[in-house]
Amino acid sequence: MKLHTIRTEYKYAELTENNIEKNPLKQFDYWLNDAISAKVNEPTAMSAVTVGVDGFPDSRIVLLKDYNENGFTFFTSYNSNKGKAIAKNPAVGLHFFWPELERQIRILGFAEKTSGKISDWYFSSRPVLSQIAAFVSDQSSKIPSRGFLQSQFENVKTEMGSKNLKRPENWGGYLIKPVKFEFWQGRESRLHDRILYENKNGSWIISRLAP
Ligand SMILES: Cc1cc2nc3c(=O)[nH]c(=O)nc-3n(C[C@H](O)[C@H](O)[C@H](O)COP(=O)(O)O)c2cc1C
Repeated sequence: MKLHTIRTEYKYAELTENNIEKNPLKQFDYWLNDAISAKVNEPTAMSAVTVGVDGFPDSRIVLLKDYNENGFTFFTSYNSNKGKAIAKNPAVGLHFFWPELERQIRILGFAEKTSGKISDWYFSSRPVLSQIAAFVSDQSSKIPSRGFLQSQFENVKTEMGSKNLKRPENWGGYLIKPVKFEFWQGRESRLHDRILYENKNGSWIISRLAP
């Protein structure tokens, strides 16, 4: 397959200074709802980008579970690689790509742990088997085999039955407080629309970037 022959023309929509919201959160809200309505696969999946403890950038997909004027929340293990990276450097990027809509959104911000109450609320809303998985998985650590993980899972399952687990202390949410957003809409002939929002002293300043 000659990769250079794969070429998509982007014609779905346009993003102009007249059709964007002044508040990037509202613009995000519109675009996420468009993605949900368009039934894109995993519309809340985003790449969470951190600066690793070794200095390398690192990224992995996580699921957005809430957003409001305070920021964007996902849940994970605080002991994971991303948790260790955030503990050292709270600067985080979030990146959405919805190919069906020819759109991407990039967000930069600073992470802080959500309150225990919020983490408890979300943990208890998860199916019991997902709770057990979070309990037995020391996320990002090296393990001897798949069988090792499976047997730990089965042991806890037998012990707990259908009872809910208490949230492990090392598992919870991060709230990313945004300072920058970029909304990208694919356009014909690669003349894409890029609208940047930067927070300057509490106000959102809007600019257009060259594609
Ligand atoms: C669609 C999808 C959704 C995921 N959602 C989460 C999530 O919400 N939280 C999480 O910790 N990991 C999630 N993962 C797994 C992460 O991508 C990653 O493997 C894990 O968090 C370990 O990353 P780390 O070693 O960089 O900390 C998801 C993966 C995929 C592909």
